[in-house]
Amino acid sequence: MTDSKPALLARPAVRMGLIAAGAALATVLVMALYSNVTKRKAEARQTSFKLMDLDEKTVDPAQWGKNFPRQYDAYQRTLEKYGTKYGGGGSEGLLRSKIAEDPRLVSIFDGYAFSIDYNQRQGHAYMLDDQRVTKRVTERKQPGSCLHCHASNTVAFREQGLKQGAPGTLDEAFTSPNAQAQLMAGFEAVCKLPYGEATKLVKHPVACIDCHDPKSMQLRVTKPGFIRGIDALARSGEPVPHLPSIEKWRKGDKLANYDANRDASRQELRSMVCGQCHVEYYCGPKTTLFFPWNKGLKVEQIEAYYDDYKFPDGHRFFDWKHGKTGAEVLKAQHPEFEMWSQGIHARSGVSCADCHMPYVREGAIKISDHQVRSPLLNISRSCQTCHRFPEEELKARVEAIQDRTKALMNRAEDAVVQLIADLEAAKKGGLDEAKLAPILEFQRKAQWRVDFVNAENSMGFHAPQEAARILGEAIDYGRQGQLALRDLAGTSSGSAAKGRK
Ligand code: HEC
Ligand code: HEC
Ligand code: HEC
Ligand code: HEC
Ligand code: HEC
Repeated sequence: MTDSKPALLARPAVRMGLIAAGAALATVLVMALYSNVTKRKAEARQTSFKLMDLDEKTVDPAQWGKNFPRQYDAYQRTLEKYGTKYGGGGSEGLLRSKIAEDPRLVSIFDGYAFSIDYNQRQGHAYMLDDQRVTKRVTERKQPGSCLHCHASNTVAFREQGLKQGAPGTLDEAFTSPNAQAQLMAGFEAVCKLPYGEATKLVKHPVACIDCHDPKSMQLRVTKPGFIRGIDALARSGEPVPHLPSIEKWRKGDKLANYDANRDASRQELRSMVCGQCHVEYYCGPKTTLFFPWNKGLKVEQIEAYYDDYKFPDGHRFFDWKHGKTGAEVLKAQHPEFEMWSQGIHARSGVSCADCHMPYVREGAIKISDHQVRSPLLNISRSCQTCHRFPEEELKARVEAIQDRTKALMNRAEDAVVQLIADLEAAKKGGLDEAKLAPILEFQRKAQWRVDFVNAENSMGFHAPQEAARILGEAIDYGRQGQLALRDLAGTSSGSAAKGRK
């Protein structure tokens, strides 16, 4: 053979073989990829492991956790302590005391339980224990209504309702008329119990069943205070552009109550589940717990409702009589839902869950982070989905808002404290009590506004301009009170001049 052999690769048989091998390899790779993809997809679909048959009696989150281990794990991590510049309860063992951090509050809350024990909030896992041990409960008499927001009581309320004679059984769906009758009857009864008795009826902090339907896992609201409060808000006619389902309900015949579980969109429910507790409320011995939303959600609308409200004994609404001045004052409580409602995020359709329970990926699975906490600990998932700025920049923007709010709040607290001091001096000086009455109203107005921002837990972030507006009014009412007192006494007590520079 003189002609040289064709190069190995040029031989048809070898070429065919190589092509076949290549094709086979490619097929194997594609198959492998496919199998991986389908596995991931199946994993993604497998949000539930259906080990437990959940129903309206399953309170224990550990049982739900068997079907939804990822959400349950994160839920348990609300035990983790943290502290941001203004958020969290602090990372150390001891609770951060609000009254030790800001002694002006002792003077502002004089004569009220908040002047003896008042701490920074911490994670959901602690809510029941923290309430059971606070001196506000151990050293003062408190009603069963306190538990409305500190325990999973959906089932406990229904059980008590059945004992009160409400119709049906515990097995009925939560939205059925019987179940609703049980819930409300039980709620009324438990609110009237002394705290020590009521707390024996519950075992868990906020639980899956409080926010989810056990059969469909859809979001729902279960807290009686919210169910009534949101209907009162719907009937108020006050514009709520951030809650379109309410606007829509108002256009209907209004024969049935506004019912979030029937009327609200999923995106609205992503805030409403939090609004079951993170709100201003009345919770005392004189009447059943309620959310004061009948005239709207703004600070002066809630105030106007309280001013008109009469307790069963005929007296107008107040939370306590100030220890030093005798003014009938109001205590604001964590109005997160109300303040968020005034901000640009609510107006843009951004829900509490968007920032506080952002989506997280675990493998191919996208779930909502059930470790409810400060969004500043997870800026990439909580904010950068919408804002294309670096983490440090976003954090700086939040802190700029918070620092400004805090500075203005300091001035407003000074104004209230100084008005209190002047009133106290005037009383000691024997000034006619009847003449002081209109000035006590200034204290009520100023205190209510300062407290509305102070008790709100975002230090202004949820609605920066609204927070500033409220604090501006607080300063004005405080100083107006001092001026009126000066006119009355014909002298200056001098403390107005002690303002900060
Ligand atoms: C646009 C994002 C965003 C939305 C929407 C939002 N928040 Fe916040 N929230 C924040 C930020 C930022 C803070 C400040 C956190 C800090 O200082 O560490 C905060 C603070 C809080 C705190 C105190 C947290 C802590 O660590 O102490 C609570 C409670 C809270 N928000 C509840 C709510 C509720 C309830 C809603 C809905 C009604 C809501 N937030 C809506 C961003 C948001
Ligand atoms: C059943 C009432 C209830 C519901 C519903 C509820 N919270 Fe809370 N939340 C509380 C209580 C009570 C605390 C304070 C617990 C403590 O200090 O012991 C708290 C604390 C927090 C904190 C502070 C966490 C920390 O570690 O400092 C944040 C943030 C928060 N809640 C956000 C939310 C958001 C967002 C929702 C809705 C997805 C929500 N909460 C739903 C009652 C509730
Ligand atoms: C409408 C819901 C609601 C009701 C009713 C309620 N709380 Fe709370 N409570 C909360 C929320 C939300 C927080 C977390 C935010 C905060 O601390 O401002 C909280 C925080 C607390 C804390 C931890 C922080 C602190 O203030 O020291 C204690 C203790 C507490 N509540 C006790 C009580 C007592 C006692 C009652 C009854 C008089 C009561 N709560 C009624 C919703 C409620
Ligand atoms: C304070 C209210 C609240 C509580 C308590 C709560 N969840 Fe959720 N959960 C939510 C919100 C909000 C979403 C987002 C739902 C949506 O966007 O449709 C969610 C979503 C889910 C989903 C759907 C998949 C996902 O992650 O988005 C599952 C499953 C779930 N939760 C399981 C649980 C389990 C299990 C518990 C108890 C261990 C629990 N949840 C407690 C508010 C809550
Ligand atoms: C779902 C989208 C979304 C998320 C999540 C979100 N934002 Fe926003 N944010 C907006 C929109 C929309 C506006 C209104 C301005 C605009 O249209 O750009 C806004 C406005 C703001 C402003 C200006 C506020 C004001 O009152 O003028 C700040 C600051 C801000 N966001 C910070 C944050 C931070 C911090 C987070 C995370 C904790 C966050 N945002 C999460 C959509 C979002």
